[in-house]
Formats: sequence, structure tokens, C-alpha cells
Amino acid sequence: MTDDVLTSAAEGVATVTLNRPAKKNALTTAMYAALADALDAAEADAGVRTVVLQGDETVFCAGNDIRDFLDRPQAGTDDPAFRFLRTIARFPKPVVAGVCGPAVGVGATMLLHCDLVYAGEGATLHFPFVDLGLIPEAGSSLLLPQVVGHQRAAAALLLGEPFGAAAAADVGLVNQVLPDAEVLGHARAQAARLAAKPVTALVETKRLLRSGTQAALLDRIEDEGAVFTRLLGEPAAQAALGSFLARPGR
Ligand code: COA
Repeated sequence: MTDDVLTSAAEGVATVTLNRPAKKNALTTAMYAALADALDAAEADAGVRTVVLQGDETVFCAGNDIRDFLDRPQAGTDDPAFRFLRTIARFPKPVVAGVCGPAVGVGATMLLHCDLVYAGEGATLHFPFVDLGLIPEAGSSLLLPQVVGHQRAAAALLLGEPFGAAAAADVGLVNQVLPDAEVLGHARAQAARLAAKPVTALVETKRLLRSGTQAALLDRIEDEGAVFTRLLGEPAAQAALGSFLARPGR
């Protein structure tokens, strides 16, 4: 159990909130497990028709907790992180994301699994894996070029160039940009609109939208996971992650 992920449900909408603001909602192993559990519970609950995934008005998620990465190398594809990725990739009901501030690493790649993404004006989506000696995960090496095209994906994944909110909307990574203070309310309202619709039609439509990619996506998550885990133990990643933690003033 962790308080760093909060869950609630009302009127057909389950809300999953990343709640570790002092660490910019960086995800620990316990948080990945809680996220996977929250999605499993939302799937099993016939009263839940849609899920909102959110941080707060200042930050969505700074990616995997870097200290966790160094102290507790991922155990492979049975690790809670991979369980969460497989769960969100397969999740059958619509997921609406409300994103303010930074969405980095898995904080950005998890958005590729959401169906509607609403971003605040100050949001940035950043995929800095290569600069950290790592590779993209969560199937993002497959999904990102599908959404934005190869060259833009290469700039994001190889050069590590972030997308600001407006650029993210231009290339189709987010549905709409709103003032930061309005994002979470809008995401909730859109989820409520979905929850008022016939659930079987929603679920079947999501299944069809994703069906062309689904099998390849689950394979890609496994492939990426194996390479990611290997690179995490190599000197380039250890040095880059260590230097983040050793920043002056820390
Ligand atoms: N893992 C662990 N701690 C993290 C973290 C992460 N991924 N991201 C932020 N934090 C911590 C910082 O160490 C700091 O902790 P401290 O106050 O105890 O020193 C706190 O969160 C605030 O972060 P800070 O960097 O001061 O905030 P900022 O507003 O200047 O920058 C980010 C926010 C998200 C841009 C920046 O924290 C960042 O780049 N984080 C790392 C992102 C990353 O590389 N993730 C891994 C991808 S695989």
C-alpha cells in the first residue's frame, strides 16, 4: 500500500492520481504496483466505465524514480513497472489523462496508451532515454512514430527534444491545450461524458481502434524491456542517473 497513488470512483469514473509532488510524482516500484492494481480494479468493476489518470496542477510525472533505478535494478519483465505497462497497454476501458507540468520518461510514454489527453499550457512531454544511456519503453518505439511520424519521433527519442504543450497538440500527442487550472476539471468532464455512453460500445470501439497494433505492442514492450533492463546496469546509464542525483545542492 502506498499513499503516493490515490484512487477514487464516482458516477462511472475511476480517478487515479499520482500523489508524490515533492518528488515530481516520480514512480517508485510501489507506485507502479499501485497503478497496476488500480487499473485491474477499474477493469473488474462493472460500475466503472472510464478512468482519469492525473497528477496535479503543477506536475504530471517525472518518470521512474531515479534512486529506485539505481538501488533496485528492475528484475526483468515480471517487475511491477512492466506489469503496469502491460496492464495499461491492454486496458479495455477508455482512459483520459490530465497533464500539467512535466511528463518525463514513463510519465510521457504512458500517455501514448491513453485515449484522450488534455494538457495544460505549461505541460512538456520529454523522452530523455538515450541521454540517460537507456532506450524508450512502454512500446513508445512503436507508438510514438505511429502518432507523430518517424522524423519527429527521432528528434524526440534520439535527440531527446521535448514537446511543449502546443507542439504536442500540433502533432496529435494531446487532444487539447487548456489553462493549467482547467485541465483536471476538463479531463473529469470528458470522462463523465464517456461514462454516460453505452459501455459495450465504448469498449468495443476502443478495442477496434487499438486492434491493428495490439499484438505488436505487447511484443514490443517485452523487447524494449529486455534491452532497457540490460542497459540500466551498464556504465553509461549508471553515470547519467548518478549525476542527476548528485546535482549541486542535493
Ligand atoms: N527520480 C527521483 N527523484 C526525482 C525525479 C526522478 N525521476 N525527478 C525529480 N525528482 C526529485 C528531485 O531529485 C528533487 O528532490 P529533492 O527536492 O529531494 O532534491 C525533487 O524531485 C524536485 O525536482 P527538481 O529537479 O528540483 O524540480 P524541477 O522543477 O527543477 O524539475 C523535472 C522537474 C521533472 C524537469 C526534473 O526533476 C527532472 O528532469 N527529473 C528527472 C526526469 C528523468 O530523467 N526521469 C527519468 C526518465 S527515464
